[in-house]
Amino acid sequence: MAARTVAVVLAGGVGERMGAGRPKQLMEVGGRPILAHAIGAFDAHPGIDEVVVVMASGHLRDAAAIAAPFRKTAAVIEGGDTRTASTVAALRVLDGRPDDVRVLFHDAARPFVDAPVIDRVLDALDGCEAVAVGVPSPDTIVVVEGGVVVSMPPRETLSRFQTPQGFRLGTIRKAYELALADPALRATDDCGIVHRYLPDVPIRVVAGSERNLKVTQPLDAVVAEHLATEVNP
Ligand code: CTP
Ligand code: MG
Repeated sequence: MAARTVAVVLAGGVGERMGAGRPKQLMEVGGRPILAHAIGAFDAHPGIDEVVVVMASGHLRDAAAIAAPFRKTAAVIEGGDTRTASTVAALRVLDGRPDDVRVLFHDAARPFVDAPVIDRVLDALDGCEAVAVGVPSPDTIVVVEGGVVVSMPPRETLSRFQTPQGFRLGTIRKAYELALADPALRATDDCGIVHRYLPDVPIRVVAGSERNLKVTQPLDAVVAEHLATEVNP
């Protein structure tokens, strides 16, 4: 039997940069909460069996109400103070599952993830342990220290990471075990944890999409509203 595939929708943040007075994933675009768009993309994908939603504390009831209509919703749980802590909370729900289960971690703040992106992550996961989604950078990206450029990596070698990021459960579990034992733990995403704590595991990068933007600040909400109307006119 094929291993099961779980999508974790990470909605444990409070949206400080958006400054909406409530978590940005509860804001509506195209007449539906951002969180509903994100859950819906995985619920509708035939390769996904279950969806676990991780919500910011104090907003679990809202998340549960949004997630309830989706038939693949398996759990709505409380996240932690950092994205890493929210991922760890989701991994706890998956305790006891076999190592070859596939797990995809997705930012709830990316409402327009689409089936082709999810397909690419799932396909790549057939042949490796960790998959990231990236898009090329239109801007030159440089490393700055103390207001001075210290290096300029060639633009064609740079990729802006999006989500979902996909893993075999055994691999991401092991990476977090090592990470949690490290008092100097720091990472902004799950591939960062694998890269740092299991450096021998190759992380495949597949193409993301410019539409798969992360709604982060007020301007993004304007763009998202436009994209939502275009998708569901
Ligand atoms: N996230 C999470 N748990 C946290 C922090 C973030 O699950 N403790 C999730 C967010 O809900 C979001 C994704 O990780 O879907 C990416 O994080 P980000 O865009 O930084 O969202 P926020 O942390 O909510 O925003 P901000 O950093 O501006 O407060
Ligand atoms: Mg954040």
